[in-house]
Amino acid sequence: MSAETLLDVVDLAKTFPNGTRAADDVSLSLTRGQTLGVVGESGCGKSTTAKMILRLLKPDRGSVTFEGIDVLRAKGSELKEVRRRLQLVPQNPQTSFNPRLTIRASLEFNLRAHGVPRRTWRSTVDDMLLRCGLRVEQGNSYPHELSGGQLQRAAIARALVTGPDLVVCDEAVSALDKSVQAQVLNLLSELQSDLGVSYLFISHDLSVVEHISDRVLVMYLGRVVEQATSEALYADPVHPYTKALLSSAPGAPIERIVLQGEPPNPADPPSGCTFRTRCPWVMDTCALERPLLATTPAGSLAACHLNLSSRPLATSSPA
Ligand SMILES: Nc1ncnc2c1ncn2[C@@H]1O[C@H](COP(=O)(O)OP(=O)(O)O)[C@@H](O)[C@H]1O
Ligand SMILES: [Mg+2]
Repeated sequence: MSAETLLDVVDLAKTFPNGTRAADDVSLSLTRGQTLGVVGESGCGKSTTAKMILRLLKPDRGSVTFEGIDVLRAKGSELKEVRRRLQLVPQNPQTSFNPRLTIRASLEFNLRAHGVPRRTWRSTVDDMLLRCGLRVEQGNSYPHELSGGQLQRAAIARALVTGPDLVVCDEAVSALDKSVQAQVLNLLSELQSDLGVSYLFISHDLSVVEHISDRVLVMYLGRVVEQATSEALYADPVHPYTKALLSSAPGAPIERIVLQGEPPNPADPPSGCTFRTRCPWVMDTCALERPLLATTPAGSLAACHLNLSSRPLATSSPA
């Protein structure tokens, strides 16, 4: 782990009691001040992974190291410190804000929970509301008095008010209209430049992740299938699933790849490569061996037997 690494996650796994394998050895790392995007269809395990990193859900195995602190084993004051420095912006501010508290009271609640002295609350909250593009008076509003975009700004302010190093944004702009989405994404970028905060930015929508992310990680059925810089991933996707996702976006530069069949049951995933039942390039090996993440010639990471066997991967489906 290099000195620049803020978060290092190794082989996090979670199978729910009903048998759903929501996360299957997920590994990732995040450099200080940068953004790691996490994409994949609904149900692929993005939120489960986020919850385990934030210690809101106990993994079956794996480790989470945040600036040298073993997050999953932290106790007492160390755990408190981790919680202050790792914050969440959830998808739906309508349900994550207490409707009976003003925005200011909700932000103060977060400061109180982390032992910030009361005398600094007012100025800290005022400063953060302004930074997030809200007026100081809007702190006196109740959640229902704000628009969706304003409320999401308030949710960002609530996360940033404790001075975190890392903010997990779980579908943080997914409920917003496109134009408001763009404004909130710009705000997140500005806040990153000003405050040096890192983001783990989760979305099912690739187009949302592209511009805000330095690196992007693609998940399919609980597994990481590809990880690359944002430029490399969008210009030259390696994994067939990434290609399919990108090809279905409006105005995609590559020929449309239509995936066969339905996503498999996560409680009974296919053997070997879990994508093989929908992959246009499936080979015999794919059912037998799980492909591990390996470095591609371009320096990305992909978990695909095709890539490993150095066979060129065409950008269009075979006939
Ligand atoms: N508490 C739970 N109990 C059982 N299954 C769950 C639970 N939470 C999530 N799942 C299942 O785990 C899988 C991953 O879910 P989730 O992490 O929420 O996906 P995403 O955030 O990518 O949409 C899905 O199949 C979902 O139905
Ligand atoms: Mg989710």
